[in-house]
Amino acid sequence: MSILRSAGILGTGHYAPEKILTNEDLEKIVDTNDEWIRTRTGIETRHIAADDENTSDLCVKAVEKALEAAHLTAQDIDFVIVATTSPDYIVPSTACMLQNKLGISHVGAMDLTAACSGYVYALAVASQMVKSGMYEHILIVGAEILSRLVNWKDRSTCILFGDGAGAAVVGPTDEGYGLLSSDLGADGSLGSILSIPAGGTAERITQESIDSGRAYVHMEGQEVFKAAVRHMGKTTVAALEKAGLSGKDVDMFIAHQANDRIIQAVAKRLKVPEDKMYVNVNRYGNTSAASVGIALDEAVRKGRIKRGDIVVLSAFGSGLTWGCDVLKWNY
Ligand code: UT7
Repeated sequence: MSILRSAGILGTGHYAPEKILTNEDLEKIVDTNDEWIRTRTGIETRHIAADDENTSDLCVKAVEKALEAAHLTAQDIDFVIVATTSPDYIVPSTACMLQNKLGISHVGAMDLTAACSGYVYALAVASQMVKSGMYEHILIVGAEILSRLVNWKDRSTCILFGDGAGAAVVGPTDEGYGLLSSDLGADGSLGSILSIPAGGTAERITQESIDSGRAYVHMEGQEVFKAAVRHMGKTTVAALEKAGLSGKDVDMFIAHQANDRIIQAVAKRLKVPEDKMYVNVNRYGNTSAASVGIALDEAVRKGRIKRGDIVVLSAFGSGLTWGCDVLKWNY
């Protein structure tokens, strides 16, 4: 094993299911309206997986694009990390389902649970594995089918979430480029403000937990909102400081796409102007672990990121968890 080399993203991809659910569609399901959803969240549409699509299927489609962008094939991959809160099964992991579907069932694979911060956590972990020389090319995917875990009778949560996957190939890159720093944090004492209470060993799924909504996403919206702005701001400043940078050095800021008001508030704290941000929450809703990966891939494909740019990925989610990766873009 060589000693610390630079590691970065070699290619990105994303996939969103074909079916689109609009705010008008939601008006027919719960007591809500387009104006409330747009002004409180910025969301206009979200994608919903087909009945025969599982989380690992979304992963495969995002990964195919990331591999193509990196000019690699699945055979070049030696480790797989899937960040998800909506796995195909409790076990086996979605990463194992994915590597089998990719025809590489000999490589290491694991799921990573950090909710909406999952992609940012996965990039930090994979980069360290590449930097240390442990692996050459690692697939990271943030993927979710939250439409199967939200309570479609709860208007305060079901309007927020969408399905999708964002992938990247992480590998060695030119010295001084790639991941410059990461800051990862969590506060388990606030776990209950954003959770799925039933379905684990603490509270089994019963007819009662299904009927009462405890088997679905529960969120104390305003508490989560305040914590999101506070922690995403702090973790981003901390990661930038570790790289010897500040908000004015940022060329592209990609925050977890949960709510446009949260993204704008964090960007304002960091003094990052509108033209240096990428926002797509209006089209995808909150895709949890997939959101940063989807937004990053769109920004790359639209030519919004060029070699040498300082790219900041920042996220926040259940746990509570938060984290930020700072990259000097290498292609
Ligand atoms: O990815 C993980 C991170 N998650 C987040 O970042 C989400 C953070 N939280 C939020 O984005 C916001 O708190 C929400 C968008 C979820 C809610 O916005 P809010 O401005 O905090 O609204 P609220 O919960 O204070 O509710 C205001 C009113 C309430 O009615 P009353 O009590 O004032 O009469 C709600 O019942 O809006 C009502 N309401 C709705 N009305 C129409 C709640 N949901 C809806 C709805 N349509 N869908």
